[in-house]
Amino acid sequence: MAIIISVGSGKGGVGKSVIAANLALLIAKKGKRVTLVDLDIGGADIHILFGLMNPPLTLTDFLHRRIERLEDIAHTLPAHSGLSLIPGTGDTLATANMPYAKKKRLIRQLKDLQTDVVIVDIGAGTSYHALDFFLMADQHVMVATPDPTSVLDLYRFIKLAAIRRVLSSFLARGAMADALSDHDFCSVDEVLEAAGQTDEASRLVAETTLRAFQPALILNRLSGRAHVNVAALKKLLTEYIGGHLTLLGEIPDDPAMERAVRGYLPVADREPTSPAAVALAAIADTLLTRMTSHTC
Ligand SMILES: Nc1ncnc2c1ncn2[C@@H]1O[C@H](COP(=O)(O)OP(=O)(O)OP(=O)(O)O)[C@@H](O)[C@H]1O
Ligand SMILES: [Mg+2]
Repeated sequence: MAIIISVGSGKGGVGKSVIAANLALLIAKKGKRVTLVDLDIGGADIHILFGLMNPPLTLTDFLHRRIERLEDIAHTLPAHSGLSLIPGTGDTLATANMPYAKKKRLIRQLKDLQTDVVIVDIGAGTSYHALDFFLMADQHVMVATPDPTSVLDLYRFIKLAAIRRVLSSFLARGAMADALSDHDFCSVDEVLEAAGQTDEASRLVAETTLRAFQPALILNRLSGRAHVNVAALKKLLTEYIGGHLTLLGEIPDDPAMERAVRGYLPVADREPTSPAAVALAAIADTLLTRMTSHTC
């Protein structure tokens, strides 16, 4: 079964798509079969990063059931051996407001893709779609920049993802699901308290689910003047969310990244010795190592 890695962020424009595209390419170069999936519902653009301007089939065809099997809309990219791309959906309100059954069908087929690694680029923000697509993965990667609004949005995203994850773990437990579903929780502690009021076993389920949620962070666009106090962020997350955040790597602000976007080729291919490409290669190696331990 494929390992699914989701790439999300609270704030838009922080570099999720370029990072997802480059990591997919770098992992494919290491001999894995990789499928890159654009799940930025309403804002799909990853195909452009590979110079694929008008993909003949996209997620829209799958969601409207013009194509039954998700793998049939995967485009092989002849220039990038081992890598295929499922282009996203952009422009209709119907897809933006995807009903639950469609989302479930999409997630089920994503998990069944015949490949080694699936990298999923998620739209920014904390909509239910974004959170559910993010959480379905085996490994959760967050991207943030040193911009204070990006760090705040990162914190908010992780908190809401943790709450949704804990609530989802109760969906199979009828009484508990009913007790929790009517309430709009704004902190993880509140969820734990509500779970504990039902019974002690429920609180334990909630705590175990939280502990298992360990997102990894990529800091992007760092420069001499712009960096993030990662230790303080980790402490905040442990204190208020109970989860553990790992720093996966740091990518410098690098004009090579922008040149690559304008050249329709990931920076890892276009300028592999640039500082951003070198940092991305190190992150891809770390992810590969984590994958090996995941399958053990
Ligand atoms: N390390 C970097 N150095 C310089 N520029 C960068 C870097 N990372 C990203 N960028 C620039 O930021 C732009 C936005 O990146 P990208 O589209 O990947 O963000 P995003 O998080 O996917 O945005 P959205 O939320 O809109 O989907 C890119 O076009 C690129 O030019
Ligand atoms: Mg994007």
